[in-house]
Amino acid sequence: MILVILGAPGAGKGTQAKRIKEKFGVAHISTGDILREELKKNTDLGKKANEFMKKGELVPDDLIMKLIKNIINNDNSCKSTGFLMDGFPRTINQAQKFDEMLEDLGLSMHKVINIVVGEDELVKRLSGRRVCRSCNNICSIHDKDNRELILEGKCPECGGDVYQRKDDDREVILQRLEVYNNQTRPLIDYYEDKNILASINGSGSEEKIFERILSTL
Ligand code: AP5
Repeated sequence: MILVILGAPGAGKGTQAKRIKEKFGVAHISTGDILREELKKNTDLGKKANEFMKKGELVPDDLIMKLIKNIINNDNSCKSTGFLMDGFPRTINQAQKFDEMLEDLGLSMHKVINIVVGEDELVKRLSGRRVCRSCNNICSIHDKDNRELILEGKCPECGGDVYQRKDDDREVILQRLEVYNNQTRPLIDYYEDKNILASINGSGSEEKIFERILSTL
């Protein structure tokens, strides 16, 4: 199964991708996570990507396509288990190149899940997000059950330290939303025209949203 999870920054792509991965055993390929890992390792790609990420802009398509080609062509396990793309494609150019790549490999996309959330809610979610340094759990200071713990800087899953992403600063959030509207939103029509888009309401509990996703698959 080859899936793409689409949605604005903060729509819950990473949160739901974790559930989809657990349920279907597919590989989860998050371009944002990969780029942040590259930066942690201080690689040339990480440093170059960070110039764009810290401003809330997209990393140039040529760098992203090189990264994706590398993963898909060299990781045979993801071809056998299927994969879920999270944060890619993000431009029409990336989507067209991805289609060509899949066609060359004799693969086809099963579904594009588009999670829809209003802009005020997106800003609230992103400003309240924390990520665990140890287990990469995504959590939120708005989660009533774990609020105190998260505000103390601890992960509710593993007790590790949580941090706030640098691009979850308010100014950068607004820039990311603008970039999404200008460069990524057109993908909704692109995939609708191909009859593989399923748009779901991204408001409500994480469980409820996962149920909505399952009902489209
Ligand atoms: P990336 O890491 O992909 O960020 P993003 O797309 O902006 O998405 P986010 O990770 O911010 O949000 P999400 O939808 O995953 O939400 P989450 O589940 O965390 O990309 C970062 C940067 O890398 C880009 O800006 C760009 O520079 C670069 N980049 C990456 N890919 C690229 C590409 N293909 N081309 C070019 N550049 C690229 O949830 C958010 C918060 O909401 C969390 O706190 C969570 O707990 C909470 N939450 C989740 N679900 C719910 C719910 N149902 N109710 C309430 N709260 C919820």
